[in-house]
Amino acid sequence: MRQIVLAGNWKMHTTLSEAVSLARAVDHCIREQSLPSHYSVLLCPPFPFLEPVRQVIQHPSLFLGAQNLYPGDAGAFTGEVSAPMLRSVGCTYVIVGHSERRKIFGETNDLINAKIASARTHQLVPILCVGETWEERAAGKTEAVIEEQLRSGLADISLHHPGELLIAYEPVWAIGTGHAATPEQAQVVHRWIRHWLAQHYGADFADGTPILYGGSVKPANAADLLAQPDIDGALVGGASLKAESFCAIIQAALPS
Ligand code: PGA
Repeated sequence: MRQIVLAGNWKMHTTLSEAVSLARAVDHCIREQSLPSHYSVLLCPPFPFLEPVRQVIQHPSLFLGAQNLYPGDAGAFTGEVSAPMLRSVGCTYVIVGHSERRKIFGETNDLINAKIASARTHQLVPILCVGETWEERAAGKTEAVIEEQLRSGLADISLHHPGELLIAYEPVWAIGTGHAATPEQAQVVHRWIRHWLAQHYGADFADGTPILYGGSVKPANAADLLAQPDIDGALVGGASLKAESFCAIIQAALPS
């Protein structure tokens, strides 16, 4: 059975005390729901709050992820954070290639590829974000853009078992806009991504790999999105910053 993953990407939000309270509240709320064993919840706070958040999360299905990493183990890279550092504070996942990193910080598919390699070397599960802009969609280029992001992002990365990689389909036009993709729009792309994975890594790998949807996921649209056969979770930005809304999304993802 495929893992269902609900991930909160806190981006550059929260102070120390807010981060700790939010993590505590999420831990508390998933304690109150009986999460099936194939469900995982993931918190991705800003770097300085990884360790304090780790200290307050207790639920065995609640995991810690980072929002980014540098593809080197250690060295003269002022301001950067490496995979071994993330491992040492208890991270098990890392978001790679988020569209904000691609757009604002100019990250290329080659850099993203190096980050994924580093994450894999250090047993962090990369969450590779892919997605098209509105202009690319309007020009009929959605699949070509995602194909390139997958092909170069995963070049020379050896992957054998589901769970070694998560994909997040995040249409750029849906992130932070309040306009999520419709469940049907998202399903079409998710199915295409799974087909691509099957061609490159085999049917078992593709069947078992969680493909998350991200972009304006809210309590009100989560159930319909997650009901799609190829949507295996959500990467949630804004709505993960309030325990109430993130918990409502987790609840919406549970089997009825
Ligand atoms: P959003 O962000 O839920 O605020 O649209 C999603 C993301 O960027 O991962």
